[in-house]
Amino acid sequence: MRAAVVSRYGGPEVLELRDVPVPQPGPGQILVRVRSIGLNFADIFGRLGVYPDTPDPPFIPGLEFSGDVAAVAPDVTKFKGRERVMGYCRLGSHAEYVALNSQFATPIPSSMTYEQGAAFLAAGLSAHHGIVRLANLRKGERFLIHAAAGGVGLAAVQIAREIGAEIFATAGTDEKLRVAREYGADHLINYNNADFAQEIRRITNGGGVDVVMDSVGGDVYKKSWQLLEKMGRYVLYGVSSVTGKGAISRIRAAAAFASMRPLLPYSLISANKGIFGFNLGTLAGKETYFAEAAREILLLYNAGTLKPVVGRVFVFDDIVGAHTCLQTRQSIGKVVVNVAV
Ligand SMILES: NC(=O)c1ccc[n+]([C@@H]2O[C@H](COP(=O)([O-])OP(=O)(O)OC[C@H]3O[C@@H](n4cnc5c(N)ncnc54)[C@H](OP(=O)(O)O)[C@@H]3O)[C@@H](O)[C@H]2O)c1
Repeated sequence: MRAAVVSRYGGPEVLELRDVPVPQPGPGQILVRVRSIGLNFADIFGRLGVYPDTPDPPFIPGLEFSGDVAAVAPDVTKFKGRERVMGYCRLGSHAEYVALNSQFATPIPSSMTYEQGAAFLAAGLSAHHGIVRLANLRKGERFLIHAAAGGVGLAAVQIAREIGAEIFATAGTDEKLRVAREYGADHLINYNNADFAQEIRRITNGGGVDVVMDSVGGDVYKKSWQLLEKMGRYVLYGVSSVTGKGAISRIRAAAAFASMRPLLPYSLISANKGIFGFNLGTLAGKETYFAEAAREILLLYNAGTLKPVVGRVFVFDDIVGAHTCLQTRQSIGKVVVNVAV
């Protein structure tokens, strides 16, 4: 089969399309013929070698996909074979076939295309986990979402809209903000034209926000933490500010982490606010969580309140272009790569 292999840690150009053996499903696993890949920032961090648990190259990255079940291990009862599925794995979906724990795949609704299926789970689960499970965002609360036109960002805007929150969205271009508005954002802030913290103070007459979802970190974290009101909840789920256009920028990374001063747990009591982190890349052992959360976001999909947002679509031969698009902030919604049509 063909697979996009990380040949060494680095920029998008280190991805090489190679012929490799089709993986065999082990106990509890299914083999899926991949139709579409949903790209995630985690794929970029994996390629850059940032995560401590990233394997040494060469390896096949990719945590999200849609496709058809091609084989089923004898002990698997959830699938019989041939079902249309979307799934979530730690690595390996940048390929024509992927083998994964059957518990981390779920059938695609008949109304969803393969491209939409590949764009749904990671963004939906992340936004749902941050907003619903952790922050417990309530109707009428002020909600700040950074990178609001990204994959997770647009899912978060839709979920917060459904809850009835007042949504403050930041993004780097007016075009991105226009899309965030389309999905329900109330206040649009292009951080290249204005200081987002000052804008929020202005709009709220010197107030702040109740919940923040921040995947950027660094200076954005510092300012957003200051904006958090009493009883506020902060969800930090990424530090994309450490990346540049190509390989990892150690100077950027050092600056980003230096601006995020450690918090003393007891200081949160008098500050009267809280902070959460999560990493859905490490779901091993959390099969029940996945089943429940996937069911909940599919209910939102069926109700028409959470739609997968497919942005740019690439062919597998242009996997380098797809990674470049996401890493260089050109994407709106999800970047999808069609492996087979
Ligand atoms: N912890 C978890 O389990 C989890 C799960 C999913 C995603 N995440 C995190 O959530 C974030 C969004 O993921 P995603 O896959 O949905 O990506 P995305 O938001 O679709 O794309 C990334 C966006 O982040 C913004 N950004 C800010 N600083 C950036 C930088 N230095 N380099 C590149 N982009 C930058 C850009 O939007 P603007 O132009 O508007 O700034 C860019 O378009 C990532 O940080 C990712 O690691 C975490």
